[in-house]
Amino acid sequence: MKNNFKRVAWLLLASVISVTVLANQNPPRHLQTYRQQGISHADAQRGHRLWYSTVNQRSCTSCHGDNPATTGKHVKTGKIIKPMALSANAERYQSAKKIEKWFLRNCQWTFGRNCTTQEKADILTWLSSQ
Ligand code: HEC
Repeated sequence: MKNNFKRVAWLLLASVISVTVLANQNPPRHLQTYRQQGISHADAQRGHRLWYSTVNQRSCTSCHGDNPATTGKHVKTGKIIKPMALSANAERYQSAKKIEKWFLRNCQWTFGRNCTTQEKADILTWLSSQ
């Protein structure tokens, strides 16, 4: 009787943990905002290409590194940047304000222009699937 209770308790605990892990890997809520702004389809492949594209020797990978699932290093300050892949860092893409702030800064620094809403949706879709 006592052992059965323990087993059920473990099962419950295990399912709570797996539900929590899965919940954290759901697509970022911010993608819904892009949808509301008229983006009917976000393309992870396009996001992937943009992420690795180079303009004047600058690329998103200059700071975030070649592999989004590992840590990056800021090209100017040398500061360590936590992984961008959602599978490696569940704290990513929780705040709309943070996402937009860095898209603005980083698209301007890397590409010398703002990213369009479509590009941001594509990149966010790709990063969050990694
Ligand atoms: C000059 C260095 C640098 C480059 C180049 C760079 N980033 Fe970043 N990025 C940062 C830093 C620093 C942060 C904030 C620290 C953190 O979130 O770990 C950040 C954060 C972000 C975030 C916010 C993530 C979140 O958790 O909400 C997004 C989105 C992002 N970057 C996208 C891009 C994209 C897209 C490019 C290429 C167009 C790019 N970054 C290029 C330095 C850079």
